[in-house]
Order: sequence, then structure tokens, then C-alpha cells
Amino acid sequence: MKTISITIPLTIKEDCELSSNERLLLEEAQQATFRSYAPYSHFSVGAAVELADGTIVTGSNQENAAYPSGLCAERTAIFYANSRYPDQAVKRLCIAARDTNGSYLDKPIPPCGACRQALLETECRFGKDIEVLLYSTKGIYSIKSIKDLLPLSFDKSFL
Ligand code: THU
Repeated sequence: MKTISITIPLTIKEDCELSSNERLLLEEAQQATFRSYAPYSHFSVGAAVELADGTIVTGSNQENAAYPSGLCAERTAIFYANSRYPDQAVKRLCIAARDTNGSYLDKPIPPCGACRQALLETECRFGKDIEVLLYSTKGIYSIKSIKDLLPLSFDKSFL
């Protein structure tokens, strides 16, 4: 028997340590939380995606009375980016969330498993790492690649 450990590199940045592009993307993700449709969870998530040419695309969670028919902010944003700009690689993704009181969270919200899988597909599709920024009021997690967020992932290499 053999045990292995998988670790992921993660940087925690303060607001003042963000580049101007990162700051802009964060502001877009924050703005997107206000366009969330979350009458059931009252949990508003915003995602902003920066494409290779600098274009920014945003998405927010869109809920449904038939709960599973709703979609997370991250997939709303990435699917829109890929369908509207199919030739543009995705460079960076920023996620922000507000709770039922309308306040930004003090711990970073990571993308759910299904969103990680969808994001991985985009990363593989363009062969370019997607940097992820997870906003919280106490710091911003910066992860270099979706692969880091989804170790032991399933991709086309198995097919
Ligand atoms: N949600 C997202 O949009 N992104 C995440 O990463 C986690 C969860 C949404 C789905 C649902 O509308 C609400 O947050 C509560 O789960």
C-alpha cells in the first residue's frame, strides 16, 4: 500500500496587491452579484471572466422554482463567454458572493464541483491556464489553474 498527498498552490492577496486588470475583474464580479436571480437561496453570486483579448464577460446565479434547473454564476459566465467568443481563450475568472444580508462574505466562495468540471473543459479546450480569484472581505485567494482546483480530474485524455 502507498499513500500519496496532493497539495495545491494557493496565494492569498490583499486588495492592494491586485493588478489593475485583477481589480477591474473583481469589480465586475461584485457588480454581477447585483444581477443574480436568487429568490430561493438569497445567496447572490457573481462571476467575471477575462478573455485573452481583454474582453470581460460576467454571469450570476440564476435560480428556478424547479431547483436543479437553475445555474451557478460560474457556468453562466463561462458558457456565455465560450458561446459568444468561441475563439477567445479564458485568461482569468473572479468570483464574489453576497449572503442573505446582502454582505460580501468573509470567506472565499469556491466554485462547486460541476462548475469546476465545466471550467476545466474550457481550460483544456484552449490549452491555457485559467487563473481564479476568489474574493472575500478578508483576502482574495488566487489559484493559477483550474487543474489545481480539481485534482484527479476527468478529461478527454481518458476517452
Ligand atoms: N452558487 C453559485 O452560483 N456558485 C457557486 O460556486 C456556489 C453556489 C449558487 C447556486 C445557487 O443559486 C446558490 O448559489 C446557492 O447554492
